[in-house]
Amino acid sequence: MAAHILPRAGRGGGQGGALRRLLLVAAALVAAALVAGLVTAVVVLSTQQGSISAAHEAPALLQGCLGGVDQQADPADCLVGRDVWLAAPSKPVSRLRTPVNLVVVHHTGTEPCRSRAKCVELIRDLQQLHMAAPRNWSDIAFNFLVGGDGLVYLGRGWDTVGSHTLRWNNKSIGVAAIGTFTAATAPAALQRALHQLLDWGVSLGKLAADYGVLGACQVRPTDSPGERFMQDVRASPRWTNVSSGDGTC
Ligand SMILES: *[C@@H]1O[C@H](CO)[C@@H](O)[C@H](O)[C@H]1NC(C)=O
Ligand SMILES: *[C@@H]1O[C@H](CO)[C@@H](O)[C@H](O)[C@H]1NC(C)=O
Ligand SMILES: *[C@@H]1O[C@H](CO)[C@@H](O)[C@H](O)[C@H]1NC(C)=O
Repeated sequence: MAAHILPRAGRGGGQGGALRRLLLVAAALVAAALVAGLVTAVVVLSTQQGSISAAHEAPALLQGCLGGVDQQADPADCLVGRDVWLAAPSKPVSRLRTPVNLVVVHHTGTEPCRSRAKCVELIRDLQQLHMAAPRNWSDIAFNFLVGGDGLVYLGRGWDTVGSHTLRWNNKSIGVAAIGTFTAATAPAALQRALHQLLDWGVSLGKLAADYGVLGACQVRPTDSPGERFMQDVRASPRWTNVSSGDGTC
């Protein structure tokens, strides 16, 4: 376009001069717009880089906990946040009055997982299942989940009433072991992550120092946390021999 206009302007004398001034003004405006755009792009890019690197930092913090190998790791660093597992936002929930003195242990009844990617996939599916009809729960049922990768995954957290064990939700923390432990033994890394989590709960004052653990099947008509894992729960010095009419184990 410009190559076509300029020669014609040259031939057109005074009219050409006005056109050249117009073109100069237009060029100046385009240049100003480009500079403004560039500044905006740089600002947007640097803001985005801030959040991208923040998202990449979380998994790096967890390295020491992978496989539960580093027992010295701060439990808070072994916690996979909801932003990392790409949780859907929770609907309104009730606040849990802490400290509580009970922990209800479940299994998810799904495949097990030994990598964060696999655990994340299973947890996202569970959250969708729990929040969809007919359940319509506010969020994933559990306060926490523990994976065969040795990591703890944040469900509803310490301060929110779960939907894991009818009639026990408002006086306990519900933790799910990811997998099906009817016959299979829960991986050592998962069991270590569970212990680390509960010790951390005591140190935070969310669990009473003398808290007890029970399997969901003691008080609900379910086989959760699985017959095999239930043996480990019963063998724990924390095991609480409660039962209710609904229990099946
Ligand atoms: C769950 O939500 C769906 C869709 O909003 C609704 O049709 C259904 O009645 C709800 N079910 C219960 C048990 O509240
Ligand atoms: C839990 O809920 C039941 C039934 O609504 C209520 O009777 C009980 O006091 C609640 N317990 C706590 C610790 O809030
Ligand atoms: C658990 O409690 C029931 C009664 O509530 C009792 O019959 C049973 O023997 C107890 N089990 C153990 C292992 O203490």
